[in-house]
Amino acid sequence: MSKSSAKPATIYLKDYKEPDFLIETVDLTVELGEEETIVTSRLAIKRNDETATKLSLNGEHLTLQSVKMDGHMLTPDEYSVTDEWLHLPVAAITSEFSLEIITRIKPQENTALEGLYKSSGNFCTQCEAEGFRRITYFLDRPDVMAIFTTTIVGDGDRYPVMLSNGNLTLQETLPDGRKRVTWQDPHPKPAYLFALVAGDLAVVEDKFTTRSGRDVKLQIFVEKGNEDKCDHAMTSLKKSMKWDEEKYGREYDLDIFMIVAVSDFNMGAMENKGLNIFNSKYVLASPETATDADFDGIESVIAHEYFHNWTGNRITCRDWFQLTLKEGLTVFRDQQFSADMNSAPVQRISDVQGLRAAQFPEDAGPLAHPIQPQSYVEINNFYTATVYEKGAEVIRMIHTILGEENFRKGMDLYFERHDGQAVTTEEFIAALEDGSGIDLTQFRRWYITPGTPEITVNEKFDAETGQYTLTLAQTNLKAGKDPEPLHIPLKLGLLDVNGNAVPFSDGPFKGETEGVFDLTKKRQSFTFSGFSTQPRASLFRGFSAPVKIRQESSDDALAFFFAKDEDLFNRWDAGQRLASNILLKQIEDAGDGTSLPSAFLDAFAETLSDKTLDRAFTAAALTLPGEQDIAQKMPVVDVDAIHRVREGARRQIGLTFEDDWRRIYEECENAPSPANQPASSSRKLKNTALSYLIATGQEEFITLADSQYRKSKNMTDSVAALAGLKDINHPVREAMFADYYEKWQKDALIVDKWFTLQAMATRESTIDDIKALMEHPAFTLRNPNRLRSLIGAFASGNPVYFHDKSGDGYRILSGVIAALNKTNPQIAARLVAPLGQWRRYDKDRQDLMVTELEKILKLPDLSDHVYEMANKSLH
Ligand code: PHE
Ligand code: ZN
Repeated sequence: MSKSSAKPATIYLKDYKEPDFLIETVDLTVELGEEETIVTSRLAIKRNDETATKLSLNGEHLTLQSVKMDGHMLTPDEYSVTDEWLHLPVAAITSEFSLEIITRIKPQENTALEGLYKSSGNFCTQCEAEGFRRITYFLDRPDVMAIFTTTIVGDGDRYPVMLSNGNLTLQETLPDGRKRVTWQDPHPKPAYLFALVAGDLAVVEDKFTTRSGRDVKLQIFVEKGNEDKCDHAMTSLKKSMKWDEEKYGREYDLDIFMIVAVSDFNMGAMENKGLNIFNSKYVLASPETATDADFDGIESVIAHEYFHNWTGNRITCRDWFQLTLKEGLTVFRDQQFSADMNSAPVQRISDVQGLRAAQFPEDAGPLAHPIQPQSYVEINNFYTATVYEKGAEVIRMIHTILGEENFRKGMDLYFERHDGQAVTTEEFIAALEDGSGIDLTQFRRWYITPGTPEITVNEKFDAETGQYTLTLAQTNLKAGKDPEPLHIPLKLGLLDVNGNAVPFSDGPFKGETEGVFDLTKKRQSFTFSGFSTQPRASLFRGFSAPVKIRQESSDDALAFFFAKDEDLFNRWDAGQRLASNILLKQIEDAGDGTSLPSAFLDAFAETLSDKTLDRAFTAAALTLPGEQDIAQKMPVVDVDAIHRVREGARRQIGLTFEDDWRRIYEECENAPSPANQPASSSRKLKNTALSYLIATGQEEFITLADSQYRKSKNMTDSVAALAGLKDINHPVREAMFADYYEKWQKDALIVDKWFTLQAMATRESTIDDIKALMEHPAFTLRNPNRLRSLIGAFASGNPVYFHDKSGDGYRILSGVIAALNKTNPQIAARLVAPLGQWRRYDKDRQDLMVTELEKILKLPDLSDHVYEMANKSLH
């Protein structure tokens, strides 16, 4: 937390030192009370550095009651306590000793949601990254791995369910009537994987039989009344367990796997050993209450946390600079899983959309950092899109370079070599190298290089020799002056004028129509021969590297790939690039988006009528790039022009293809999805059609949205109707939003959607609407989901009004940051990023944004979290 002294300390990777002492076992007793909770911790400690004469344990927001060393009570003059540490003298000859530390904490007053806190009347914990130190004094660092035994004591009526990691070994009622349970976790683990839950919860049970024939009990704990919303989470869990066995040979290693859904949670979910704790958003779903996107989110987050059992828990991080070791790898694994469970190209498109929307701006702005940061002030600020999503792209590139079989060999060796250890990204790469026999020396630079590389592409064709030469050059503005080149995998295919794949006539992929080439130099040429006419190169297929392509492409060339590329990712991407180019041109010419060139309309029409495509793919291909995508391509972002032109184009596309949209709407509404496609694909395309029809501005389609809303028994269709009308002023719109709130006000996750839809509306009244919503009885800063649903959605999802010329949008955000700075600094800090993008805007807006950042830096009791984000954003 904040210290009175000015600047918080920076922690550097280069200063890493092994711990002086290790903790072999932890025996915790947690006595839960309504006023305070008493934690008794018995530690078996072993010396790790012969010269150490002091043991320093982390501890924050704790009241120390007593310390015993080897059974002797220490007097307060024998130790020292600060806001962050407990220092104990240790005689130089002592090699092993025990400690018993008693502390008191107040979970009821814990609004930061780190450590032990209460959510809807239930106790729960969040210990990653450094939350355990708010429960008791400890060596709270991931390279200290201990065996935990946890005893929970409390009122059995209020808290009939009492959970911790591992296996339940004892359960009894004490003479004073309290309930006592003991859990033992046989797997050594760092404190950040500790969890405890106590409350009056319902449970849904199932089982999974592992491939070696062991039965694992599966339990999902939810607030009472939500038992009927766990099916999808449970199915997703079983699929994940099976997939990890088949794809990676990894079996689950305890007899019980528990998930608890809580409604107050800073992040998405947490992989505590055997006892995952989830934001309820990523557990609860039924078709009536959750959208298809929610279902997808649940499937991938359940998978993600489950996969951490091997990539994160069995093998963990040596220190927090290695965070991408577990997060990048586990995101990659959950993306692979989702691609296997659903349409792979649609999944890839959505992964890349996420990367471009969140990670690219981060990597281009003042908060850019390599996937392995070299320093930090507050580790919570490094749970970023870069560490997670770019980290996943880095693993994917290794997979692409090694190929499936070699990648698996490398992973097998990684598991075999490092099981039970806390390791570095270097050890991970070394295992992949050794397992595959493929050199990754140059590839390692990805770990320490910030910024998105830009690839300039030049083509040359010599009609006489039939030789085609591709020259690619890499630059990276964020990587310092004249950076060493990165090793970048280029997945490439060549097409003839008709769009047919042409086999390579020479080189390593002779006879094949696609190959992975290694870009390892700053500038590199590849020559292919045997052509009578110039081929067309489909570059970075499947987005084979997280780079930006700088290529002069004509509308015709992009339209060609949009219509013909057999790589569906590139097909989609060509359409997006084509649309961006056209819209940017219109912005330049001060147009209104309505005059769309025929190359674009023809290609659009072709995709519109192609019935062989997955409907979800068609929907993605027919959706214009988002306003923020277009913004990234402008030297100075003009939010109003982008909005004007994009909306104009949507209207034009709506009108031009009105009959097609009507037909598609009908088909998707009435005919079931083709056999190999999920029903969600049809809803996606139908709602894309609805949105274009509404964009025509015709009353008839407002009525269509209204009737869809009224008929709908499905949250996807309801939300699509609301989203379709959110930007207009119309009695139907007002009635629909009122009805929705009325109907769903008791369901927090659904009310969150109501806030989000209004936060993203672009009407003249938007700013006033947001201010009024902040006063709404259902709004609170205390619940992270609710806060994100309004303020987060506004600041990152409503460019037009967040960047309103008045500066009101910026002031709303900084006001919320100020209000949260002390109560929940982690969430407050996350909200700073949109202001950190100030360099991208015009001078007036820059001044307004900088003013708010400066205001934030002057807040009294500024938290380290917010300080780091605001300070880096300014400088
Ligand atoms: N480790 C969690 C995940 O990615 C994220 C998390 C980090 C949750 C910190 C809570 C606190 O799976
Ligand atoms: Zn994770």
